Amino acid sequence: MLLVQAIYLCGINFALATEAPYLDLNDGNKIPTVALGTGRGTAHGSSVDEVRDAVLWAIEEGYRHIDTAVLYEDEVQVGQGVADAIAKGLVTREQVFITTKLPNDKHAREQVVPTLKESLAKLGVDYVDLFLIHFPLATKSDGSPDDIDYLETWRGMEDAKQLGLVKSIGVSNFNIEQIDRVLAEGKVKPAVNQIEVHPAHTNEELVIHCQNKGITVMAYSPFGFLVPRRYAGASPPPPPQIDNPTLVKIGEKYGKSTGQVVLRYLIDRGLIIVPKSTNKQRIAQNINLFDFKLTQEEVATINKFNKNRSVFE
Ligand SMILES: NC(=O)c1ccc[n+]([C@@H]2O[C@H](COP(=O)([O-])OP(=O)(O)OC[C@H]3O[C@@H](n4cnc5c(N)ncnc54)[C@H](OP(=O)(O)O)[C@@H]3O)[C@@H](O)[C@H]2O)c1
Repeated sequence: MLLVQAIYLCGINFALATEAPYLDLNDGNKIPTVALGTGRGTAHGSSVDEVRDAVLWAIEEGYRHIDTAVLYEDEVQVGQGVADAIAKGLVTREQVFITTKLPNDKHAREQVVPTLKESLAKLGVDYVDLFLIHFPLATKSDGSPDDIDYLETWRGMEDAKQLGLVKSIGVSNFNIEQIDRVLAEGKVKPAVNQIEVHPAHTNEELVIHCQNKGITVMAYSPFGFLVPRRYAGASPPPPPQIDNPTLVKIGEKYGKSTGQVVLRYLIDRGLIIVPKSTNKQRIAQNINLFDFKLTQEEVATINKFNKNRSVFE
């Protein structure tokens, strides 16, 4: 208590920051359970200029994991935000877990390491913690399909790990069959599969399959249709929305917002969450999840919203 008061009197709000717990990856590394999403094309608002501050605010609030990708064109700003936090003495490089992703037009084995080196230069770091194949589909630089098997790409990811440029390697948007091929043919097991998971798209079969194989699942677009979606098709968004009575009731029980209930639901399914925000208050809210836990019944209730509906449909 005295320490908290002393910290308070010094005007430093260490006492308010929450650190998320870590999960063990199958390669011996540890991954923080809350990652700040920085991809901004998938939801409303936010320009790349907002990313640097968002990353710094997130680290101030206790985030130790930042999710970026070549596709988001914000690796420079992510690196600047991390550097700002290091310069302020909030963290060391080793304390921040950085995830980035290989784009579809760099899937040839010999392109993987040079592409990662470009990401490292943009981020201003000499390694990343996690490198993912963003999609199991290869394209040419003009976006037309290319005929490169993702197993070849995986060998390039293994090369990058072997060179010490990345601590853990994984995949994103891989289905069960694709995961099983990499497991059967690869030398290194993917540590992570990053996929879309939220109440309207619970993805239970794929999540459980990965977890049974020792692959940690990261849940992207975690708010689902709670928030407006730029790419959602013509049909109306399925429930739940932000004022959904079932979520409101669960939130009232724990003194949390419906957004926090949904994030905690994903944590309680053993997932790493990737909420995106460039708003200081919402960044703080999205990691304030570790003083409550949903019951199994509440998790099952939220699972019933499932419509297998992607936010990109
Ligand atoms: N691997 C992949 O293929 C892939 C695909 C999509 C996304 N991702 C990753 O996952 C991240 C998150 O996905 P996403 O951006 O689609 O969606 P999201 O995190 O589910 O939703 C982001 C939206 O929710 C708003 N928001 C944030 N916190 C909120 C809160 N507490 N209450 C209400 N609204 C809130 C944000 O607005 P404000 O910023 O104004 O707060 C933004 O409009 C991406 O940024 C990216 O890093 C990966």
